[in-house]
Amino acid sequence: MDFMVNIKNNTEALHLASEKSGFIKRLIEGKASKEGYIEYIFNLHAMYKAIEDSLDNNSNHEGIKRFVTKELYKADYIRKDLEVLVGDKLSEMKLLPSTEACVARIYEVSKEHPELIVTYAYIRFIADLFGGRIFPGILTKYYNISSDALNYYNQPNIGNIRDYVMEYHINFDKLNLSEHMQNLFAIEISNVYIYNIAISNELDAKLFPA
Ligand code: HEM
Repeated sequence: MDFMVNIKNNTEALHLASEKSGFIKRLIEGKASKEGYIEYIFNLHAMYKAIEDSLDNNSNHEGIKRFVTKELYKADYIRKDLEVLVGDKLSEMKLLPSTEACVARIYEVSKEHPELIVTYAYIRFIADLFGGRIFPGILTKYYNISSDALNYYNQPNIGNIRDYVMEYHINFDKLNLSEHMQNLFAIEISNVYIYNIAISNELDAKLFPA
């Protein structure tokens, strides 16, 4: 548990930076656009797909199998939202370079150090349990997104969120990482934040240059 307490303490500022980063900040403040939100979740979809594929591909791995938490998977839900929001035009959309870089890194990690893939799972899935709760209201109010396009925010049936997250943290200890791997784990956690910040900043710069 101390391991995750340290990770959380060390990444406090990175969490804040993610929350306040370009497009996410703009979205929360009601200053983005429906089209921008669509492009944002199009990019998120690719990230979740890479995370979920990597978890599934390593589901026989002793440490990783506890993190194959299908109840938290989001790619299929986001895909549904995109189908409602863009329909056939989905095939014409292109990923941001920073998303391409993130996805490539996820597959690289999955091959080289599969146990580190859980850093990506942790940051996206657990963040959704907390920060994700504020979005449906914002998306309805400012961007006129209908409820049939808000499947991404379906809250999983997991009981008490704090207990679930505590259990998730305990599963990190069960990975039995060597000191060397713990160092790589801490670095990868920062990478996950950095990729998320980059995607949010790149999208903001692309859509709202000025
Ligand atoms: C959109 C604005 C966001 C808000 C309002 C928000 C808010 C929160 C809150 C209230 C918590 C619970 C903290 C606690 O009491 O333990 C949390 C946890 C977390 N957030 Fe965010 N967050 C946001 C965005 C993000 C983003 C963009 C990321 C990363 C991409 C992120 C990653 C995380 C993670 C990994 C945790 C779990 C920490 C743990 O292990 O307990 N959050 N967030």
